[in-house]
Amino acid sequence: MLFKIFVLLTCLLQCISGANILGLYFHAGKSHHILGETLLKELARRGHNVTMASPFPLDEPFPNYTDIHLTGILDDQLARESMFMKMNKGHTFIGVNDVLELTRAQTELTLNHTEMAKLLKSGTKFDLVIIDWFMNSAILMFGKLFDAPVIPIASHGTTHLANYIVGNPAPPSYVPNVMLAFSPDMTFLQRFINGVVTVGYNLASYSNIKYHQALLEKYFDNPPTIEKLQDTVALVLSNGHYSFESPRPFVPNVIPVGGFHVQKPKKLPQDLQAYMDNAEKGVIYFSLGSNMKSVLLPKEKQQEILRALAKIPYNVLWKWENDDLDDKPKNVLIRKWFPQNDVLGHPNLKLFISHGGLLSTIESLYHGVPVLGIPIFGDQKANIPNAVAAGYAVQLELADLNEISLGEALNEILNNSKYSNNAKKRSELLHDQPMSPMDTAIFWVEHVIRHKGAPHLRNSGNHLTWYQYVMLDVILFLFVILYLSFVIFRICIRKIVALFSQNRKQKQKKN
Ligand SMILES: *[C@@H]1O[C@H](CO)[C@@H](O)[C@H](O)[C@H]1NC(C)=O
Ligand SMILES: *[C@@H]1O[C@H](CO)[C@@H](O)[C@H](O)[C@H]1NC(C)=O
Ligand SMILES: *[C@@H]1O[C@H](CO)[C@@H](O)[C@H](O)[C@H]1NC(C)=O
Ligand SMILES: *[C@@H]1O[C@H](CO)[C@@H](O)[C@H](O)[C@H]1NC(C)=O
Repeated sequence: MLFKIFVLLTCLLQCISGANILGLYFHAGKSHHILGETLLKELARRGHNVTMASPFPLDEPFPNYTDIHLTGILDDQLARESMFMKMNKGHTFIGVNDVLELTRAQTELTLNHTEMAKLLKSGTKFDLVIIDWFMNSAILMFGKLFDAPVIPIASHGTTHLANYIVGNPAPPSYVPNVMLAFSPDMTFLQRFINGVVTVGYNLASYSNIKYHQALLEKYFDNPPTIEKLQDTVALVLSNGHYSFESPRPFVPNVIPVGGFHVQKPKKLPQDLQAYMDNAEKGVIYFSLGSNMKSVLLPKEKQQEILRALAKIPYNVLWKWENDDLDDKPKNVLIRKWFPQNDVLGHPNLKLFISHGGLLSTIESLYHGVPVLGIPIFGDQKANIPNAVAAGYAVQLELADLNEISLGEALNEILNNSKYSNNAKKRSELLHDQPMSPMDTAIFWVEHVIRHKGAPHLRNSGNHLTWYQYVMLDVILFLFVILYLSFVIFRICIRKIVALFSQNRKQKQKKN
């Protein structure tokens, strides 16, 4: 028996060892890139030959990992600084439009990139293409060009952004749109809004697909339709999980692997380790992520924050992107960068003051650390309310942030053990799985390679038109049948009634 298992295992390993995997991370969002790089490095560690095309080259070479630098994309993104300024002021909807434009430009730069042309010309064969999924349908063309199945990674979790590619249902009656931050138990009004917003997003994504089709027409002769390209999608790895997403349906080829990027915390650099070990009451970590920098906060907000922090008996690590900070109290330590995962994993960490980006939220949850959330834009406006609903966060609006409000929020979350208890409970849910999220992700990637695109996992949902999908044609047909039956029935009744009354009249006449 043992021998058989051994033979089977070696065969399995052989069948999939040394697969050639291409990662396409066209978007210059650092958090997206972290997800892709972490997964591809793990695949390389497990014996695959991975190639990564992205705007962020590796700091140092990694075995079995070929880096292709997509130049120009990061510059294009930085040139759109005004977009981030707008976002920082909280203009969510302007943000959505700008993000669509940004991803279109980045998709185009990738489609027309000389490095991609070189890779195609080299004749390298890939068994699989892994892409960052971010409203970028035209990138699916590379699945066709390399004749390989595609796995999109849905960085934002199980949302409308990726559901439609593989026909994953998300009934608006109980799956709130990710941007709305409703609880799954919606009132009538909320269900109404959720329905309208769902239709709105579908319309927007439809028009976006049209644009991506035009991109393909521009760079390729007789390109396939985006719908046809979606057939190269084997499955979606979703950066979600029920420990932080409300329960929702999953078709067999949407696999939730949220938390896969989080690694076991390592020892901190010596000085930081000593600082955290020796903090008497504990440490608070404060970071607004990589896009929204703390130094971009208005000057008076910075002062309000410092005054509130000075009053608490905790030590604070603040990711502050300048060399100095005026009026810095002595319990605050600033650095341009912290090893966030290792800081969050330190047992002495009591609280994370965060913008609520999805990766930060997941990392906090993974380590069971409560969150004081200051959401700025996009999905942060939903991640924090979800964390509040789950009982491990307190939310503070940037507009309302001052010495008093921040002080009250800090007291509430630090003096009330319910927040850290709930964070620990949620963390247990994330860890209580048959396989770790990373092992799950690797298993399904290799499943797709072993089964040549795994066509057995796909449903027919995404081949249907929207009205077929919601059975509108069948319902209409039923109504027509019912209506016709009713009309015929009425005519019959009338005829019969008429016949009877005629008979009666005739009888009366006779009498
Ligand atoms: C991966 O790298 C190791 C050592 O760096 C090497 O022994 C192995 O053959 C490589 N595998 C592939 C598939 O390139
Ligand atoms: C690994 O991938 C690179 C492309 O990035 C390719 O040039 C090389 O031949 C591949 N190695 C193997 C062993 O397939
Ligand atoms: C596409 O790439 C070519 C070659 O690098 C370049 O000359 C051309 O300007 C690019 N087109 C666009 C629209 O960027
Ligand atoms: C917590 O409560 C104590 C008194 O009960 C108070 O002195 C302190 O300021 C409160 N806040 C924090 C952050 O400890």
